Amino acid sequence: MRKTTDISGGRRPAADSGGGRVSRRAFIRTVSAGGAAALIGIGGAGRALWGATSTEPGLRSSRDRNPLRFAPEVIPNDLTLDAAVGSADIGTGIESPAWLLNQTLPSPLIRARKGDPFRVTLANELPEPLILHWHGLTPPEEMDGHPRFAVRRGRTYDYDFTLENRAGTYWYHSHAHFKVGKHTYLGIAGMLIVEDEEEEGLGLPSGDREIPIILQDRRMHGAKTPSYSNPDTLEGILGDEPFGNGVRRPKLEVDTALYRFRILNGSNARIFRLARDDERPLVLIGNDGGLLERSVEVDAIDLAPGERVDLLVDLSEAQVGDRILLNSEAFHIATGLGRKEQVHRQGHPLDLLELHVTREVDEPATVPVHLSAPTLPDPKDAVRERSFVFSSDRDEWTRTMMQHQINGLSYEMGRVDERVPFGETEIWSFTNENQFAHPMHLHATHFHVLSRTEGRNRVMPWEGGLKDTVLVHPEETVRLAVRFTAHRGLFLLHCHNLEHEDVGMMLNVLVE
Ligand code: C2O
Ligand code: CU
Ligand code: CU
Repeated sequence: MRKTTDISGGRRPAADSGGGRVSRRAFIRTVSAGGAAALIGIGGAGRALWGATSTEPGLRSSRDRNPLRFAPEVIPNDLTLDAAVGSADIGTGIESPAWLLNQTLPSPLIRARKGDPFRVTLANELPEPLILHWHGLTPPEEMDGHPRFAVRRGRTYDYDFTLENRAGTYWYHSHAHFKVGKHTYLGIAGMLIVEDEEEEGLGLPSGDREIPIILQDRRMHGAKTPSYSNPDTLEGILGDEPFGNGVRRPKLEVDTALYRFRILNGSNARIFRLARDDERPLVLIGNDGGLLERSVEVDAIDLAPGERVDLLVDLSEAQVGDRILLNSEAFHIATGLGRKEQVHRQGHPLDLLELHVTREVDEPATVPVHLSAPTLPDPKDAVRERSFVFSSDRDEWTRTMMQHQINGLSYEMGRVDERVPFGETEIWSFTNENQFAHPMHLHATHFHVLSRTEGRNRVMPWEGGLKDTVLVHPEETVRLAVRFTAHRGLFLLHCHNLEHEDVGMMLNVLVE
């Protein structure tokens, strides 16, 4: 049994270091010519808090931290992903049992290019059926990882399609029936980065200035390694230990430079409220469906399971020795469960990643004002409306297990729940009548978030552009413009709280 090795020593390997990176371009380029490409500096005021040490309980000293590692990078060109039981180093030399693809935790980072063929073979040696879904991509239905395509141990599944999606931060994970939560938790999940020419022209930070990171919480119960047992299907599994790219309590050595952080919330149920502890804003340039039109500065970003954000992190004014924490700040979601303080509660603060500035460099830290021009479905073109209501009910037979449902339905693999005409724009509304937050995810397309009423009562600044997952708090109604233009076929709408999904909070959507 091979274990994963830390190829980075906690520093992002340079593009030319031979550390398994596939990089097509040098890091930091002068921003593209063209009169319109005005530049803004993203440095500025707010230096006072640099390097401040937090005294909040629960935040740890950096001695307890482990170097962040990066998954080996692969290209989807006749790639084989071998799924097998194994183990992985989760930091401080601790080997944790894990379910792995190609024996690495997290799964290999797939770096692909728009327009290229995507040819991957999944070889399943796990004791349970498995199928992989490319979250955010819009391939033909047999390539999308619907649970009906899961393969048993000893079998393979071939994916072969042309990658049609724009540059962005996508990911992939198990979509096996009833087992998505367990498989993803144990390690069957990786990042999938798509590049294209448009994005390359912007000269965003790349190579060792690009940090792909999968953030997850894990439940330790005092044990040395995480375990997936007795998940609470009401709230989903919540842990109190932060992991980054499979490493417990990660830290990363950085230079005084501008970085691009591609952040995926790969947790089963945990919602993060991302913020820097130095009170500098987060500079958002992209989300689920790729780059936004222009960058947005926000103090904090709520990132639910399945969602991604692309951030610029400017450390050009930091000083060697500074330590900056990327935290998940405390927040409250009314659950109606009563006041009882639970250790694993949603909204509990976590310190996710420590950035330790160790080297001074002199690089330009600028970004173009205009990033991209995503094509959003236009609500003016809408020809019909469709509504989805989320509720919970006791299981009809056992009367004990609580089921999260959509329109009163629990998932059935062979039932078609919604028939949606190909190419027509529709308004979909998600109404949450239940006491838990639901990050709702749609396969086969991206949508445009139009409004949110009740609850937070607005579209959040990080919900612009093209989304494939949207968080719906209790009492909220979120409206979207949706249009399927990629492929006809049977796809899925589900909650990306993986325990909710596994108890049946999912519907089959037939695009016809
Ligand atoms: Cu990331 Cu159907 O899921
Ligand atoms: Cu998906
Ligand atoms: Cu849910």
